[in-house]
Amino acid sequence: MENCPANPFDFVNPISDSRFFAGRRNELAEAEYYLKLATHQRPVHCAVTGRRAAGKTSFLNLLQKKAEEIGILAARVDLTPDAVESELNFFLNVFEAVLSAGQARHVLYSNFFDKFYLAFRQAVDMLAPPCSFDLLPLVFPFQYAFAKARGNDRAPVSQPVLACDLKQILLEARRHEVPAIVLLFDESDLFADNPNLLSKLRNLFTQVPGYMLVFSGTLKMFPLINDRFSPIVRQFRRIELRPFETEQETLECILEPLVVYGQAEKFDLSVLPEIHSITGGEPYEIRLICHFMYKHFQEKGLASISLSHEVLEDVFAQLERLHSDERERFLRSIRGLPSASLNMLQKLAISSPLSLIEMANGRGESAAHDRSLALQQLITSAQDLAERSLITLDGKRVLAVFNHDGFDRVYLKFLLRARLEEEH
Ligand SMILES: Nc1ncnc2c1ncn2[C@@H]1O[C@H](COP(=O)(O)OP(=O)(O)O)[C@@H](O)[C@H]1O
Ligand SMILES: [Mg+2]
Repeated sequence: MENCPANPFDFVNPISDSRFFAGRRNELAEAEYYLKLATHQRPVHCAVTGRRAAGKTSFLNLLQKKAEEIGILAARVDLTPDAVESELNFFLNVFEAVLSAGQARHVLYSNFFDKFYLAFRQAVDMLAPPCSFDLLPLVFPFQYAFAKARGNDRAPVSQPVLACDLKQILLEARRHEVPAIVLLFDESDLFADNPNLLSKLRNLFTQVPGYMLVFSGTLKMFPLINDRFSPIVRQFRRIELRPFETEQETLECILEPLVVYGQAEKFDLSVLPEIHSITGGEPYEIRLICHFMYKHFQEKGLASISLSHEVLEDVFAQLERLHSDERERFLRSIRGLPSASLNMLQKLAISSPLSLIEMANGRGESAAHDRSLALQQLITSAQDLAERSLITLDGKRVLAVFNHDGFDRVYLKFLLRARLEEEH
């Protein structure tokens, strides 16, 4: 595919084609094991955790496909602030996800699905439920329509109603050889806005086996899940998406898309160690850098796909564009920082919450005097960062890094790199 105008490295969209998905074999195998288990016995729920841009949505996309291959019905719920606002909204999203997955596979109410679905939509969109259960053998849409028609948006949804409907749907699916249903919740950090939904899910699916729950989100969601699911905590499996540890995995992430485009031999292998070290093995960052390496290779007709100063400048410029208005304040504050503070902010971005004492001890100064000097310097820099609202301090403990997410962390790293190059 010489002179192909397309760029094999997409760093914007989550992956859904397994040919472009690198690594994560153990994690996928682990999740697949529990999916298969769910076809025979009471499901073990899973939580997929990772930082922003760690590849959670991509992972969920692949899991959804795996579930379908195994014969499980996979319903995907991409949570939004609106969806978690009330029980009515939340369970409407759950039912919609299950029904559309069922429709796609013709395993739910297949002989009258069109009429059934029309009645369902009439109930929830026009708040006009049909008079008979024959067309719409579920109670939730009726409850939804009655509550919303009365303006009672926050009405609780009764547990027996949900249990009855979900059992009914499962029975219907089992009639079509579907052994279990998996509900995949992306953006599960949003449960923090309405933790009662988690309690409701726990109660519901303790009562109705046959449904497996998969939550994906950052580590922030975990205390919450532990809290709400604690009585059955052993029924929860945690799968963590970490950066790629080895250069081999980073290489796979680079080569897979190139193989699809028939250009794998064009990659300059000598830059692999540097890419692995700059990106720290984060797949999003690998894709970002490779996107610009490929762009330079394409536009300049280079002999190989390689790393250069210009490529890194392009990445930096891209990161600046990505930062929208809401991040302007963050950008302005960090551009003005001295290198020492930038360095510190970067360390904190990797491992907050952290105590400054731990940081000073981690510096390796052996004498007590040196350690206390190091601590003093850290406190001064931390206070400076706190005054600029970049971090939140609680005594000598850093609680949070301002607006810290995947993009800010990469931006910080590149800013520091550019600064160091200037200084030398
Ligand atoms: N396993 C992977 N292999 C290759 N690229 C990946 C992988 N995981 C993530 N990426 C890259 O990272 C970007 C962000 O992934 P995404 O699934 O949206 O992350 P998250 O949902 O955690 O924010 C994707 O566009 C993709 O380029
Ligand atoms: Mg995502």
